[in-house]
Amino acid sequence: MKRTKIHRLLTSETALETILLKGWVRTRRDAKGFSFLEVNDGSCLKNIQVLADSSLVNYDAVTAITTGAAIAVTGSLVASPGKGQQWEIHAAEIELIGSAPDSFPLQKKRHTDEYLRSIAHLRPRSNKYGAMFRIRSELAFAVHQFFRDREFRYIHTPIITGSDCEGAGELFRITTPHQMNETKQPKNSEDFFGREVNLTVSGQLSAEMFALALGDVYTFGPTFRAENSNTRRHAAEFWMIEPEMAFADLNDNMDLGESLIQYLVDHILTNCSDDINLFATYVDKDLMRELRRILDSPFVRLPYSEAVQILKSSGQQFEYDVDFGTDLQSEHERYLTETHFKQPVILFDYPKTIKPFYMRVNDDNKTVAAMDILVPRVGEIIGGSQREERLDVLENRMDEMGLNRDAYWWYLDSRRYGSVPHCGFGMGFERVIMMMTGVGNIRDVIPFPRTPGSIEF
Ligand code: 4AD
Ligand code: MG
Repeated sequence: MKRTKIHRLLTSETALETILLKGWVRTRRDAKGFSFLEVNDGSCLKNIQVLADSSLVNYDAVTAITTGAAIAVTGSLVASPGKGQQWEIHAAEIELIGSAPDSFPLQKKRHTDEYLRSIAHLRPRSNKYGAMFRIRSELAFAVHQFFRDREFRYIHTPIITGSDCEGAGELFRITTPHQMNETKQPKNSEDFFGREVNLTVSGQLSAEMFALALGDVYTFGPTFRAENSNTRRHAAEFWMIEPEMAFADLNDNMDLGESLIQYLVDHILTNCSDDINLFATYVDKDLMRELRRILDSPFVRLPYSEAVQILKSSGQQFEYDVDFGTDLQSEHERYLTETHFKQPVILFDYPKTIKPFYMRVNDDNKTVAAMDILVPRVGEIIGGSQREERLDVLENRMDEMGLNRDAYWWYLDSRRYGSVPHCGFGMGFERVIMMMTGVGNIRDVIPFPRTPGSIEF
């Protein structure tokens, strides 16, 4: 017999004669002549109650089953007389698949996030992290659905690369001596690729090449940054969604980013209501209101220079000063989204001095056609721009920034042959999950987080 998952059993419309359930025991409670087992199989937040009575041949063994053990139950699904649950299982047979000693580190009480991080291998068995990673899975699906509905093609851009798209030097270097793969003796100094390479910080440059061939494309994959900032919103390994559109400008870019965020919020509220409710109840009491705010009105759009004015005249004491030409810090992003506008904000036209070489230079020659989308509590969730499609301007900008044109010959070629206005952005997948769940630390939305000094699992 095939096992049935709990989320199916709980939505059954009729009682069922014989079912097979497999899962992990959350608790066992004994009464006179029978025991109740609360079982969870990870398919949904809810447990199902299994009634085991003393007529079971191995009833003695059943009364020794502990929290964390894996069991298989054959039995029937019957209406439950108990409060708060429609169905329960009356066991005809219970098999212990894997026992768990009393030292099982996840007990019924609530554990702290810090403690759960220290047992990341067992963390998904808790209610909160089961819900978290079901939401994460559903969000990934929704991202693909969004782009597929709009006829964007999914491109697998490389993870090993020779370029530093963002120019910020936050690269994880890979070096592998050639001789590991050869029987003859090559020169010691020779690396596998014959040059220095690194893990990608962004798939954008590759995605641009495909947008300039297939029209609308996106990448969605792992991204690596050796930022030594041990903050609550930076991870060394994270996932990024990067759409790129040909024949499109900065306004199209803002429209796409705004629709994407709203689509994802709507999709999760519709499809993961139980799991989201856990976060709205135990993690962040304002979560539903915050999510509605994202759905209910268009995002504010304003130039970076105006945002700087607002911050300067706010009367607020910030740790970091702001002025035209400074990067906004988390505290500034939060002031704008949480205190001033109380909703998501799209800032555009940033000073060119704080942005990478590929962004399109505006007519004022001071700003570039960049845009960041900031949301309350998370801050920057999307960073993007219209790309510089004019070969001469791009070359000048690269010279200005001290980049080696030869290394980017293929990128420059795309501006030589049928160059068109195009744009795109990167959306941090983990930041989206933080927004959706109200969870404040990026480590808690990643199955096995990688941050400076931390890679146990
Ligand atoms: O703003 P960023 O650096 O933009 C780019 O990399 C562009 N090449 C994207 C593009 O235009 N195709 O990064 C994009 C987003 C940020 O807004 C943030 O949400 C996320 O990626 N991000 C991180 N998320 C987690 N940990 C980190 N260390 C992150 N760095 C960036
Ligand atoms: Mg950015």
